[in-house]
Amino acid sequence: MKTLKVALLGCGNVGSEVARILLADAPVLADRAGANLELSGIAVRNLETKRDAQIPAALFTTDAQSLVDGADIVIELLGGLEPAGELIARALSNGASVITGNKALLAARGAELNALAIKHGAQLRYEAAVAGAIPILRPISDSLSGDRITKIMGIVNGTTNFILDAMDTTGAAFDDVLAQAQALGYAEADPTADVEGHDAAAKATILASLAFHTDFDLADVHCEGITKITAADVTAAKDAGMVIKLLAIAERSADGIGVRVHPTLLRRNHPLAAVHGAFNAVFVEAENAGELMFYGAGAGGAPTASAVMGDTVAVARRVVSGGPLPAVAAQQPNTALSFEQITT
Ligand code: HSE
Repeated sequence: MKTLKVALLGCGNVGSEVARILLADAPVLADRAGANLELSGIAVRNLETKRDAQIPAALFTTDAQSLVDGADIVIELLGGLEPAGELIARALSNGASVITGNKALLAARGAELNALAIKHGAQLRYEAAVAGAIPILRPISDSLSGDRITKIMGIVNGTTNFILDAMDTTGAAFDDVLAQAQALGYAEADPTADVEGHDAAAKATILASLAFHTDFDLADVHCEGITKITAADVTAAKDAGMVIKLLAIAERSADGIGVRVHPTLLRRNHPLAAVHGAFNAVFVEAENAGELMFYGAGAGGAPTASAVMGDTVAVARRVVSGGPLPAVAAQQPNTALSFEQITT
């Protein structure tokens, strides 16, 4: 059986789970992929940081470039724009396939990196970038590619859903609940990205680009977070039979396609109102399929690692069978945009 060298960049919450799965589940992954997936190394910033004792110390390196250059498959879980962007570009230019969960990078440079993958016959997959464990990017870009998506509404940030849900159910104050979300490992390193809606806006950009086959620009996504929501707002919504959720919305209308992120009042019997804690859900409307709902764990190490591993097995299968999959990429120039803001 062929052996594929898998380089892991980053060993945080998600990276350490990916390393654990690659090591512990090697036989079953080999069966599914049709190749041995050999973890060739883990690039980290600091070798002194205390790590999971189950991961052999010899795997860690600070030389990410050499690790990338020796790999068939690169899993990027560093987060942030750099050095992640430079390392992914390097891997793709080498012809190696890349799996990433880096929503900020994809929202900023997704079209360019997809084009680079195509140019070098490599694969670029990023199911983990949106809604953690929930399979959503492949359904909207593959399963629904024979249909026309008209609207997507998603709870795609676990931290803000956790905060709003706790405020709704316990009347807790914003700051206390944010600290809990951070302690549980849901929040970004800088939780401003969560609470100001930037993380959800990056995910909305990715979702809209795939659902509407058009490259969207993060800068054009209207973005409003939850920092101004008070306990009194949450109570008033509750008294009116509503709940406040931070939604990412991408919608086709007569004027074009609008993409936006903002707190939204939902009636309590709406399917998205039943999404509690750090869970995510994406509600999709398509002309022929009608309404679909995708639900599951949207943040956290093991759930996000599940999506990474699904992409890794898919990529490995394709490497074994020869030739890349058609890239999951937007196909048309972005000519029909209009952006609107709805008030809550
Ligand atoms: N900080 C993100 C969230 C992590 O809370 O959803 C998953 O992308």
